[in-house]
Amino acid sequence: MARRTKIYEGNAKILYEGPEPGTIVQYFKDDTASIGSGKQAVIEGKGVLNNRLSEFFMTGLNSIGVPTHFIKRLNMREQLIRQAEIVPLEIVVRNYAAGSFSKRLGIEESMQLPRPIVEYHYKNNELGNPLVTEEHIAAFGWAGQQDMEDILSLSLRVNDFMSGVMMAVGIRLLDFKIEVGRVYDGDFQRLIIADEISPDSCRLWDMETGQKLDKDVFRRDPGALADAYTEVARRLGVMPKTSTPMMKPTLIN
Ligand SMILES: Nc1ncnc2c1ncn2[C@@H]1O[C@H](COP(=O)(O)OP(=O)(O)O)[C@@H](O)[C@H]1O
Ligand SMILES: [Mg+2]
Repeated sequence: MARRTKIYEGNAKILYEGPEPGTIVQYFKDDTASIGSGKQAVIEGKGVLNNRLSEFFMTGLNSIGVPTHFIKRLNMREQLIRQAEIVPLEIVVRNYAAGSFSKRLGIEESMQLPRPIVEYHYKNNELGNPLVTEEHIAAFGWAGQQDMEDILSLSLRVNDFMSGVMMAVGIRLLDFKIEVGRVYDGDFQRLIIADEISPDSCRLWDMETGQKLDKDVFRRDPGALADAYTEVARRLGVMPKTSTPMMKPTLIN
């Protein structure tokens, strides 16, 4: 591929200028970091899996009328996305207590919440993405009142979709994080789902065994991460076609 202009390199992805204005090529890296534990590693194949899985979820969301940045997958590690002005929030939707929520409120991990709880975290890695309230968001102008209403309804629609898709393959969606961004169609402005939806940004447990199938695996056992992600992809029927089996000649009658 021709030389491209790099726009940004984060921990999990690299953004390049897209072929047309208003588009970006998103490259999924194999790198993983766990902010809490300070661990860092390269998990071979993780980027390929996340590229496929994010495509799968975003395509599904688009098809039920939840707008996302996804345009098309380009290859094993890259997808074309619509450029958006990212709202500097990590929007977390929780169905079951886990992680920082359990610690902060002293609620046992895996306890089902009375209803989905939507949390806002200020997107800033150095500060550890701190929890903020709508007061902070309004005062700093990160999002307006209409944006907040749209963010809430988008988040809950993503939650219902993701919970259902996961339940169908025996996986419990405890919580997940999304990012949203603004796009402009002429004078009309709206919010779309951006970034990625993958086991890096969801907390997933096997419904029967309680086995963890997400980034928490890495916090305990980095080596097992790719296996967990492969299992999620396999159950959803989203396996990367790296090892296409040889077609056997078939006799027709
Ligand atoms: N559609 C989009 N338009 C513009 N920026 C995006 C879009 N989707 C995701 N991003 C940004 O791209 C970056 C992805 O890189 P990532 O490795 O996740 O970095 P980070 O460490 O900042 O989370 C994030 O900063 C995210 O906000
Ligand atoms: Mg990120």
